[in-house]
Amino acid sequence: MKVAVASDHGGYPLKASVIEIIRQLGHGVLDLGTDSSAPVDYPDYAEAVGAALQKGDAERGILLCGSGVGASVAANKMQGIRAGVCHDTYSAHQGVEHDDINVLCLGARVIGPAMAQELVQAFLSAKFTGEARHLRRLSKIEKIETASREKSSQTT
Ligand code: RB5
Repeated sequence: MKVAVASDHGGYPLKASVIEIIRQLGHGVLDLGTDSSAPVDYPDYAEAVGAALQKGDAERGILLCGSGVGASVAANKMQGIRAGVCHDTYSAHQGVEHDDINVLCLGARVIGPAMAQELVQAFLSAKFTGEARHLRRLSKIEKIETASREKSSQTT
């Protein structure tokens, strides 16, 4: 599959290792920056990965920032994006199997390349089970997303 990858400066030190791991696993990479450790704003990179998924340019995304948290908060504002910070392998595969996450967020100030390798492998090899209870919960999340968009458009 094609995997969109981006980081801010906090995630940059881990980005090359993550890209190498994705390629070793036989997947394609869409590298959306950043390309140095100069300070940038993580929402810009979260938006780039989210947009790549929305357009169908990639099937999954991996975002790196210092903690993984800021990137996940930003990515989850986008329609159809389900991002999770996963620093344990159970969450990295269960997040896909049950919650259908399509973006894995990692904190380069929290984990190193060896842990990142296991997490990326767990995330990319996992598949959504499609079981009725998970579909029902995802549909409730979609309803929250739609209702909140509609409410804010009525108040503006
Ligand atoms: C950047 O210093 C840092 O705030 C950012 O990478 C991230 O950790 C936010 O969640």
